Amino acid sequence: MERKSMCIISIKSEARQTTLLLFFLQEKLYSKCVSKVGKGVNEMKIYRIAVIPGDGIGKEVVPAAIEVLDKIAQLDGSFQFEWTTFPWGCDYYLETGKMMPDNGIELLRGYDQIFLGAVGMPDLVPDHISLWGLLIKIRREMKQSINVRPAKLLQGLPSPLRNPHNFDFVVVRENSEGEYSESGGRMHSGQDEIAIQNAIFTRKGTERAMRYAFEMAKTRRQHVTSATKSNGLTYSMPFWDDVFAEVAKDYKTIGHTTNHIDALAAFLVMKPENFDVIVASNLFGDILTDLGGAIMGSIGIAPAANLNIERDYPSMFEPVHGSAPDIAGKGIANPLGQIWTGKMMLDFLGYQELGTKVLNAMEATLAQGIKTGDLGGTATMREVTDAILEQLS
Ligand SMILES: NC(=O)c1ccc[n+]([C@@H]2O[C@H](COP(=O)([O-])OP(=O)(O)OC[C@H]3O[C@@H](n4cnc5c(N)ncnc54)[C@H](O)[C@@H]3O)[C@@H](O)[C@H]2O)c1
Repeated sequence: MERKSMCIISIKSEARQTTLLLFFLQEKLYSKCVSKVGKGVNEMKIYRIAVIPGDGIGKEVVPAAIEVLDKIAQLDGSFQFEWTTFPWGCDYYLETGKMMPDNGIELLRGYDQIFLGAVGMPDLVPDHISLWGLLIKIRREMKQSINVRPAKLLQGLPSPLRNPHNFDFVVVRENSEGEYSESGGRMHSGQDEIAIQNAIFTRKGTERAMRYAFEMAKTRRQHVTSATKSNGLTYSMPFWDDVFAEVAKDYKTIGHTTNHIDALAAFLVMKPENFDVIVASNLFGDILTDLGGAIMGSIGIAPAANLNIERDYPSMFEPVHGSAPDIAGKGIANPLGQIWTGKMMLDFLGYQELGTKVLNAMEATLAQGIKTGDLGGTATMREVTDAILEQLS
């Protein structure tokens, strides 16, 4: 009896692994099942992309990245993007009292993917309203449960680290629950006020992120590091560790390590080259990826993808950085984070070679010394974008 149930568990787990692998391969190969124009062999594929520039520098860097993506599509010649812009964000909130219309999610469902800039004008709209009313609402309602954020030493861009070696890692962040859960409350006021914030970890969500990380490691340098804090958080993180150990058993050829988040943050500064794929909870992943941006040279270059791996909904591509109100409207924002995010969308659509071309053009531009102020340069956003377009020509 016991042996039978063990066998069933192992078959189930094998099936889950296969499903995950399929998601992953789909991501690598996807592109053939989207709108097409015309008939016959030389059909032009059309990708319908919902664009949400959002707030602050989002309104500047999104159009810049779109120019680059249109250019690469034009060079390839087999597909094109059809962009539809939605003016949702804090200005929309100030006019309507909502960050997006009530049927916003329904409207977005009709698109292949979503390309977002940044959300937030903290002086005018509290962050918990702006982010939860748009960004996090889309991530949650569209079941974008996996957040992928790469960080690597870019050619032509010195890292602020003294000895960065050639680091190249990806953080797979659980994106739908964990510490960012709408559970808790505030009671009383003044000196007696109490705030309770619950972190919710489900086996399904935790395991999904971990399996995704292991599948990704198969295509990279075969190692997954889990970010934990089971020496401080007495329920959620021991659970996280248990699930990690269980999932690791299904991936015998992939190395795995567990690090406490505080030590891991220090390791990312001291020896980032040691990491390949890092799997982290929502909060830990969020923090680690800002650090990833910082050791690359600026948060302004770090890209991200929110993936609905089941492909029931569009995925959403948005850089790690925020709306940067301090530099918004000055034309000096770094467009590289948004452009690299566009590269991730190309990869997701199945155009890895074109994605690599975009990254190469970014690196060649950096090597020419054409950089915005956050990277120690003097170039404007327009100049950086033009240089990348020139590299692609
Ligand atoms: N995904 C998102 O939409 C997202 C992410 C983070 C923060 N936010 C929101 O953005 C607002 C501002 O947040 P913040 O100041 O903490 O973070 P931020 O990322 O907007 O800015 C942090 C610092 O980095 C600089 N910076 C960021 N992106 C840059 C770029 N592309 N080029 C050059 N410099 C850049 C800014 O000038 C600022 O000094 C807040 O409302 C916050 O909630 C949104």
